[in-house]
Amino acid sequence: MKMQRGIAPSIMCADPLHLERDIRALERAGSAYFHFDVMDGRFVPNFCLGPDLIRAVRQISGVPADIHLMVEEPDRHLSLFPIREGDVVSVHQEACVHLQRTLRHIRELGAHPAVALNPGTPLCMVEELLPDLDMLLLMSVNPGFAGQKLVPQVLDKIRRARQLLDRAGRQDALIELDGNVSPENAVKMRDAGADIYVAGTSAVVRAPGSIEENMAALRRRLEERD
Ligand code: DX5
Ligand code: ZN
Repeated sequence: MKMQRGIAPSIMCADPLHLERDIRALERAGSAYFHFDVMDGRFVPNFCLGPDLIRAVRQISGVPADIHLMVEEPDRHLSLFPIREGDVVSVHQEACVHLQRTLRHIRELGAHPAVALNPGTPLCMVEELLPDLDMLLLMSVNPGFAGQKLVPQVLDKIRRARQLLDRAGRQDALIELDGNVSPENAVKMRDAGADIYVAGTSAVVRAPGSIEENMAALRRRLEERD
């Protein structure tokens, strides 16, 4: 199944006391993926989501999962996740010693393999692995917490990432942006070459307004060309 462009709302930003309500609203509003942030309290200084929550969401929704593993040694935990064909699983380059093997493992499980890069990690760290990944997840904040400010250097990094993928013959590989994807920042990310937008507190899930209105507003901004 081909990867799709669009908006991937961050489920960690949904209301935990009204998770089902938010999931259904996000599905109705046309989410390309549900972005699940998994945090282990080691790779990042926070804990968040896990396989059981993802499994529960899957029982009520067919939206593909975009699982962002902010964990050390993700290889050890991959089999815990309810992975389906068409899902995407991102592991951090900074957390994987044998990254190529981990990407291969993700593909064997039926998902699209992706590499996530912290704002401070240069693109050259994935240069050898472009044939093995289907998506690059560029962090636009330091991972661990919602509600942070954009690290502005990421905008130029998106342009360079697109060139790198294209030169390697990976026009099909997509670029996802995660962190402070406000409507204003999303337009700048789009102009630089972004394909998938993780919408959290800044745009959709905890922003003022209903989920449906916020998703529609963000989509409109992304579709407008000036
Ligand atoms: C940060 C997470 C993000 C976060 C995005 O570690 O990976 O997915 O939920 O939320 P905002 O839009 O608040 O930056
Ligand atoms: Zn994330």
